[in-house]
Amino acid sequence: MKITVINGSMRHGSTWHCMDAIRQELEKYDKTDVTEFSLPKDMPQFCIGCYACFYNGEDTCPHAAYIKPIVDAMTESELVILTSPVYGFDVSGQMKALLDHLCFMWMSHRPDPRMFHKIGLTISTTAGAGLSHTTKTMKNSLTYWGVKRVFTYKIPVAAMKWDDVSEKKQKKIKKDAEILAARIAKCIQNAHKLPNPLFRSCLFKIMAGMQKKNDWNQTDRFHWEKHGWLSGGNPF
Ligand SMILES: Cc1cc2nc3c(=O)[nH]c(=O)nc-3n(C[C@H](O)[C@H](O)[C@H](O)COP(=O)(O)O)c2cc1C
Repeated sequence: MKITVINGSMRHGSTWHCMDAIRQELEKYDKTDVTEFSLPKDMPQFCIGCYACFYNGEDTCPHAAYIKPIVDAMTESELVILTSPVYGFDVSGQMKALLDHLCFMWMSHRPDPRMFHKIGLTISTTAGAGLSHTTKTMKNSLTYWGVKRVFTYKIPVAAMKWDDVSEKKQKKIKKDAEILAARIAKCIQNAHKLPNPLFRSCLFKIMAGMQKKNDWNQTDRFHWEKHGWLSGGNPF
């Protein structure tokens, strides 16, 4: 099972340990081949809003040297995992900086059809609050990239570091990981047979309608034409 993990923190803290617990459980179903990125080490730049990715293609992003290996790994994986600790009720700045760079592959621009059969997972921990908003930020990207099914794992750990997480809580995380990994593994085995999410099908139709009228961005429009999506082609 090919997995890409994008850690929204460099720490091997509570969030990383939750991810690792799930990864270890997944290993029971299939050998895991994990490509792991840690932020900001593997993508230390902020989006500068130059619009090069939108108008001239993602290869022209000034930070393409960082972005391309991440996109390549995601498109080659069956499972894409985004993780972040809660910082001020949201993802870490470094995770948001990466997600900003990947807006070109949102459904409203140039969705990559290789993402359409992926399974996504978001993982977040907090000392006490902010999990819903943080999860939503990461889930939005996975959903709008067109990922087929998104799982989420979120837990308040009442701690600032993993060693301070109570034994009871660590046991709960292990148990949760067992249950979640079983669901994810089953989903990956059946990824091509899973029903298409209604939201994605509707969104795709709306975006196709918009691209038909698109006279403001030829790069986006060409992408949709090239895949035959403006002449009735259905990628799902
Ligand atoms: C900059 C910063 C901001 C944080 N903001 C929040 C917050 O808004 N709410 C909260 O309950 N915990 C907050 N925390 C605590 C972390 O979310 C929590 O300890 C988390 O489990 C750390 O994950 P890690 O061990 O993977 O780094 C914050 C921590 C840091 C460093």
